[in-house]
Amino acid sequence: MNELAKKLKDKTANVTVIGLGYIGLPLSISFAKAGFNVFGIDIDNSKIQSLHEQNSYISDVSDKELKKTIKNHKINFTSNYSPIVESDVVIICVPTPLNKTKDPDISYIVKVSEEISKFDINKKLICLESTVYPGATEEVILPILTSNNNLKIGDDFNLLFSPERMDPGQSNWNLSNTPKVIGGITSRCTDLGQILYNSVSDNIIKVSSTKAAEMTKLLENTFRAANIGLINEMALICKKLNLDIWEIIEAAKTKPYGYMPFYPGPGLGGHCIPVDPRYLEWKLEMLNTESKFIKLSEDINFGMPDYVVQSAEEIIKKHNLNNKVNIIGVTYKPNVSDIRESPAIDIMQILSKKNIKFSFNDPHINKLEIENLTIKSESIESFFNNKELSIIITDHANYDWDYISKNLEIIYDTRNALRNIKNTKINIYKL
Ligand SMILES: NC(=O)c1ccc[n+]([C@@H]2O[C@H](COP(=O)([O-])OP(=O)(O)OC[C@H]3O[C@@H](n4cnc5c(N)ncnc54)[C@H](O)[C@@H]3O)[C@@H](O)[C@H]2O)c1
Repeated sequence: MNELAKKLKDKTANVTVIGLGYIGLPLSISFAKAGFNVFGIDIDNSKIQSLHEQNSYISDVSDKELKKTIKNHKINFTSNYSPIVESDVVIICVPTPLNKTKDPDISYIVKVSEEISKFDINKKLICLESTVYPGATEEVILPILTSNNNLKIGDDFNLLFSPERMDPGQSNWNLSNTPKVIGGITSRCTDLGQILYNSVSDNIIKVSSTKAAEMTKLLENTFRAANIGLINEMALICKKLNLDIWEIIEAAKTKPYGYMPFYPGPGLGGHCIPVDPRYLEWKLEMLNTESKFIKLSEDINFGMPDYVVQSAEEIIKKHNLNNKVNIIGVTYKPNVSDIRESPAIDIMQILSKKNIKFSFNDPHINKLEIENLTIKSESIESFFNNKELSIIITDHANYDWDYISKNLEIIYDTRNALRNIKNTKINIYKL
């Protein structure tokens, strides 16, 4: 067995995780708990400061867990890249968003690869976990890593892509019980990756290449985006047919095979589902081809915030309400404090353009910026007893829907959050 494989197996390898966000921080904690000596690197000094003070900024990592890991395991956090010198493994977890023209912005992974290439990468295993388009690890990262040396991939150093499948806010599925897909540039890279990830995941799925691993991630998230697009269209169709989509879904999902429930909503949110299919679409554009499904689901899903505002205007008119709406919940999904790509933001921007006033309440968000204005979360009680429309955008578990519905007269519920409310005095409009 070679030296690196032995170090990975007996956990004497030093592991560096670059990018300590939603993915990198929990990952670095998992490797520390598994027994490795871990260095966490982030260029955001405020995050490093917070970690040094043993305060977590990620809802999936409690302060208690962070403190315990720092106390009982070998983990250090820094904004300096120097730990790469003594690292056997370097895992990249930096953002891969879209730029202003909605094309992949891979500048973060390029920058980090350039930083890694300044070090001697001989005998190291480098893993990319950030979501990228098919081919990016081999076509973009590999040439950067070999730009300053004559090292041979698979012989001298190793490179792997392993898509991150973590779902923030989800407690049933975590790094250890979610199968981990890995694909190396060479089979030796994949084998080393298997030894590494075996220590934090129960089930490793090896694929034939980095490109196959990259495409696996994009298939998973395009599948979600396309199915959400389908169910959003079904919601609009049901409206036209005077049917309740939520009732139809409940009935359809009783079929024990061949059907998987997806739910309509006010739009797509988060760092993955609205973004990842675009990575694949961009790659296809480079090859002078296209995906009809991605285009179609983008059209439907990105049109939902407009549809919600249009429906809200109709409700306001019908009930002769004040020209103001109250948004209940602004994060992109329940029980997290993440507003990235949240449809609530799109909805507020549309309201602002239409000169419709708005307020919001969210127990996980104190304030946010809309069109250069800072808006603070209001108390839910401030929405009570006035002639204004309240719109439920995010159904956080700690909302007391019974209490809220007793104190509101008209609600537009885009999540079917009020499904168990029997109060007949309230007007509930559903998506
Ligand atoms: N959040 C999710 O649910 C999720 C799920 C699966 C996959 N992913 C993918 O994982 C990757 C990371 O996502 P995330 O949600 O953790 O992002 P994030 O924004 O929460 O964290 C990224 C971190 O990288 C740091 N960073 C940026 N540039 C850096 C640099 N040059 N050097 C060091 N640190 C740097 C940032 O300061 C930030 O703390 C993305 O590609 C994303 O698509 C995310």
